[in-house]
Amino acid sequence: MNRTVRTTEDVLGLLDRLFPPTEPFWDGFYADRSADRPFFTPAPDENLVSYLDRGLITPGRALDLGCGPGRNALHLAAAGFEVDAVDLSATAVAWAEERAREAGLAAGPRFHRADIFEVELPHARYDLVYDSGCLHHLPPHRRISYLALLDRVLAPGGHFAVTAFAAGAMGSERPDEELYRLGVLEGGLAYSPEELRSLFRELTPLELRPMAAQAPGSALFGLPFLLTALFRRTAAL
Ligand SMILES: C[S@@+](CC[C@H](N)C(=O)[O-])C[C@H]1O[C@@H](n2cnc3c(N)ncnc32)[C@H](O)[C@@H]1O
Repeated sequence: MNRTVRTTEDVLGLLDRLFPPTEPFWDGFYADRSADRPFFTPAPDENLVSYLDRGLITPGRALDLGCGPGRNALHLAAAGFEVDAVDLSATAVAWAEERAREAGLAAGPRFHRADIFEVELPHARYDLVYDSGCLHHLPPHRRISYLALLDRVLAPGGHFAVTAFAAGAMGSERPDEELYRLGVLEGGLAYSPEELRSLFRELTPLELRPMAAQAPGSALFGLPFLLTALFRRTAAL
């Protein structure tokens, strides 16, 4: 059958197939735990810890999108959140579950090996949706799915925090259209503060800044080529 496009989902699926599949890449990426990859550290994002320390976010239900080996999900669970954490990679989720067992938390995160756009979650709404490094690996058309996901799961008055490659410091700065012509995401897409504000314009920005670099051996994770943003959804919906 040649005429396969009938719905918006068909178009999104077609556009997905213009890029290499991501799941095998991520499984390979996590296969060697001794590899020198900064975010293999168990340390949580410095901005996440700072939001908690300043009371900008308070415990409730949290959803971690593209959780990898679970460092932020575990920190949120330890801080008293009920956490669902999702990642495509079975290797990452196995590692996250191992870390959770080692941490011995009374209520650890529930890890889901799934695509964030297909996962079946136990709750309809979350007080915090957290994304450290997932959005910038999505192809442009999946921003449509991402905004729909946020709209569906972010509770009124809830917070959304995202960490992405900072334009000018890391990531591809090619225009969206060119990425489709080339069929590559070049290791992740760069976002400027204006692009993040514009993408999430239905939300109220509370803080948008570069991540604060951390010294080697720090208990916190921080790399200066990432942009961090915290938004709040209006309480009245
Ligand atoms: C740069 S890593 C960040 C991992 C983790 N958040 C951290 O900071 O340690 C990006 C993660 O997003 C996951 N990912 C990418 N696209 C995804 C999707 N559509 N659904 C679920 N996970 C996805 C990858 O498997 C990978 O683990």
